[in-house]
Amino acid sequence: MAERLGREARRRHFTCRVDSIDSYNIANLIHEHLAVFVCATTGQGDPPDNMKNFWRFIFRRNLPHNSLCQMDFAVLGLGDSSYPKFNFIAKKLHKRLQQLGANPLQAPALGDDQHDLGPDAVVDPWLSDLWDKVLSLYPLPAGLSIISDLIMLPPKFSLRFLDKQETICNAAEREDSGGIATELQPHHATLVTNQRVTAQDHFQDVRIIEFDITGSGIQYSPGDVVMIQPQNSHKDVQMFCSLLRLHPDSLFVLEPHDPDTPVPPQLPQPCSVQHLVERYLDIRSVPRRSFFQLLSYFSPDEQEREKLLEFSSAVGQEELYTYCNRPRRTTLEVLIDFPHTTPCIPADYLLELFPRIRPRTFSIASSMQVHPNKLQILMAVVQYKTRLHEVRRGLCSSWLASISPEDGKRVPLWVKKGTLKFPSDPDTPLIMVGPGTGVAPFHSAIQERAALGKAGNNLFFGCRGKNKDFYYKDEWEALEKMGHLRLFTAFSRDQEEKIYVQHRITENAAYLWELFSSKQAYFYIAGNAKSMPNQVTDALKSIFQSEGGMSALEAEQYLVMLEKCGRFQSETWS
Ligand code: 2AM
Repeated sequence: MAERLGREARRRHFTCRVDSIDSYNIANLIHEHLAVFVCATTGQGDPPDNMKNFWRFIFRRNLPHNSLCQMDFAVLGLGDSSYPKFNFIAKKLHKRLQQLGANPLQAPALGDDQHDLGPDAVVDPWLSDLWDKVLSLYPLPAGLSIISDLIMLPPKFSLRFLDKQETICNAAEREDSGGIATELQPHHATLVTNQRVTAQDHFQDVRIIEFDITGSGIQYSPGDVVMIQPQNSHKDVQMFCSLLRLHPDSLFVLEPHDPDTPVPPQLPQPCSVQHLVERYLDIRSVPRRSFFQLLSYFSPDEQEREKLLEFSSAVGQEELYTYCNRPRRTTLEVLIDFPHTTPCIPADYLLELFPRIRPRTFSIASSMQVHPNKLQILMAVVQYKTRLHEVRRGLCSSWLASISPEDGKRVPLWVKKGTLKFPSDPDTPLIMVGPGTGVAPFHSAIQERAALGKAGNNLFFGCRGKNKDFYYKDEWEALEKMGHLRLFTAFSRDQEEKIYVQHRITENAAYLWELFSSKQAYFYIAGNAKSMPNQVTDALKSIFQSEGGMSALEAEQYLVMLEKCGRFQSETWS
């Protein structure tokens, strides 16, 4: 989005910088006249990682209230309306900038990932209004007009291909250089376990994947998450290279056109085409509208160019949705559909056309105190059918599921703090609600607390069938026998009527209320963001009313109090 804004600004002859907020010098903010903040809301209403310092800074109490009065601004929010705190950060940022005296050009955009057409559906009209306002404040100088969308702007980098002899080192893999594993310097961990944990006849393939992290320096606690950087399959890389007539072994260096533009730190210099395509270019996700527009520039074929332009036009959005979004057509499949255009894509535009492969986040399911050199996740292999012939497969989960421990394959990963925090006193009782793969962070916490010989672990686990997808069954049963765990199960499809975790919660109202009211229990929800978290929360509020004698309003306030002091936490995903 930010890049798109940058392009649109350049088309209007603005001098403009597109910066990641953590590489921007905050001290300059008081000198800015026009700024657009593109900001996502993550977790349960948290700022993105790279915004944390900025966030702390602008919420400092001692900032004078008119410090930004020279600045006109707008906030473009990106969020997901299936979460309760939809676009919370964008709204809060907008308010705070206003408090600091900055002048809002318009209300924040509330981009929504749940929208069929993606965030563009909200962002397109919002941007068009924004440009109207900006141009009324800063009219184009006489004689200049808006550079048409039909004129291609130059790429940010050139790829200068090298003769093989020029290279000194193998660009394919940089070794771990020690230090803390981060996005820029991931640890390459060996995959040591890849075990299916659902019955063979179950609809879903769920795996326990375990990595050996010996020597990585990685430290993690229950509630933390691991970031995994997936790779394209060999088959996809081959296909892509042959479509674009690229040789996987060719080596190149990236030369920025503007000396201020940094080379993406994830790419070695020199870099092979193989490395670029396998590890950096996202060719498996559904392409965005701007992809079609850029592609149209390279098309020597009139019919294909017309189609591409239609897909990138405002009127073509329904058709683009039917062609791409609804059946989840991948970028690679689109390239196949435009056989005259694809071979004409210039190498210099690869980084403009294809976004970077994003790392995927998984809750860590193991305890480092119990297994110091291991890191485990519980992962559903994402695959589903659409009207397209080929099954749709998630990039990261399919890649991990395809690796066998014998391959000795190494997986780039690093660890981040998750949103779930467990109390430091291991005697505090926990009530954990984790249906399906939502149980992962609780497996980590229970493993750790059981090793300390602690009780007070109450787990509500839900799945479809006792013999289908009951993850960690034997382990839970052993821990129950030893008195470390009270397990409440809800098998939704083992009988006629649905039984869900919230039903078990309601059945155990008196016991749970006792844990809240006299044992200071902590309550956790993890799992699918659809309706489960709300229904579980409703069940809890009913307990506060029936057992705690509260009114509906008091139950609501009690929950807010629990949330404020960290005794009610949730981590959900869609
Ligand atoms: P279902 O698929 O039979 O509807 C893990 O996915 C478990 O969560 C499954 O047993 C699933 O049941 C159940 N589940 C689905 N929707 C739910 C909801 N709204 N609340 C609680 N559990 C739910």
